[in-house]
Amino acid sequence: MTDRIYFDQASTSFPKAPGVAKAMYAYLTSLGTNVNRGCYEDAYAAEETVFNTRKLLAQLFHFPLTKNVILTGNITQSLNMLLKGLLRPGDHVLVSSMEHNAVMRPLVQLSRDGISFDRIPCRRDGTMILEQAEAMIRPSTKAIITLHASNVCGTHMPLAELGDICHRHHLFFLADTAQTAGIFPLDMEQLHIDGLAFTGHKGLRGPQGTGGFLISGQLADQMEPLISGGTGSVSHTEEVPSFLPDRFEPGTPNLPGIFGLHAALKELTPLSMEQIRTKELSLTGYFLEKLMELDPSEKHIRIIGRKDLSMRSAVVSIQTLDEDMASVAWHLDHDYHIMTRVGLHCAPNAHKTLGTYPAGTIRFSFGPQNTNNEIDFCIRALKEILDL
Ligand code: ALA
Repeated sequence: MTDRIYFDQASTSFPKAPGVAKAMYAYLTSLGTNVNRGCYEDAYAAEETVFNTRKLLAQLFHFPLTKNVILTGNITQSLNMLLKGLLRPGDHVLVSSMEHNAVMRPLVQLSRDGISFDRIPCRRDGTMILEQAEAMIRPSTKAIITLHASNVCGTHMPLAELGDICHRHHLFFLADTAQTAGIFPLDMEQLHIDGLAFTGHKGLRGPQGTGGFLISGQLADQMEPLISGGTGSVSHTEEVPSFLPDRFEPGTPNLPGIFGLHAALKELTPLSMEQIRTKELSLTGYFLEKLMELDPSEKHIRIIGRKDLSMRSAVVSIQTLDEDMASVAWHLDHDYHIMTRVGLHCAPNAHKTLGTYPAGTIRFSFGPQNTNNEIDFCIRALKEILDL
């Protein structure tokens, strides 16, 4: 096997969906107009694609309000806009103990302004101890925010149950779908999600620099825009527009990116998503099985998180117990051209939960184009590097 093996899909997916690069190239070389500013046909053509992108996203997440689909540069931006736009001094929020820094760093920043948070504990396999969640709600609790799947070990959070708790206690429910959008079905209405943040460059298989969030009218009414500026609308006033999406979309958007994302979204149907999900989970199961065969007693390789396929994504973290993990990851890349991610994956508290802090893990993450042959090759590589 001479080709490179890309097992870092949780970081960004590769390859992108068919049609993405072509759509971006066509926009840059043939259309090239801005949106919301020009009164000519080609500007309207660009606007139509942007509108259709919102429509496809609204359909994907089962959300009725197309204009409440806000496009941003990435999910980190989306989460910052949601948290910093919504929370005020005195507010309290609940998060899972598995959060990524895209949620935790804004919250820690906000905690200096009198906003507090508590972490709903999770077990050593990353599953949430849901029984504790409700008792942690205070009179000042405004929202629960959680990732859908851990970027460290793939474990899923119980969105349906958390949504139900939020619904009953009149809390906003915010979901970080960085690792699941485009792979797992997400029905905002059924899950009672008020704000769903997504990225375009992972499971949706679109380009980097795309993402956004979808918000209920009630949440939008309580959110201040984090940044403001020209929108091409209500230009007679220096006030931020009150209507969506303009209220949260100042400045010229990443149009080549949105054209790419639009092409990616067109490929996604319930059937194609199911095929992707089945393939990714089958690869995950195969990798877990081969790891357990390689070291049944886990004397040399410890598998972190769940060892079965329930409530998980296609992300597997391991610790090598006799060899430095950075060195193993380096050998995987240098000697075998296998790309992984090693370390703490921007989620220190997830590692504290999983018992892998501060050493971290080597993370393998799979996409629909990966194969069992690649996994066989990777297992042979681990056997050689670890001298098993
Ligand atoms: N959060 C992404 C990852 O886990 C970038 O690699």
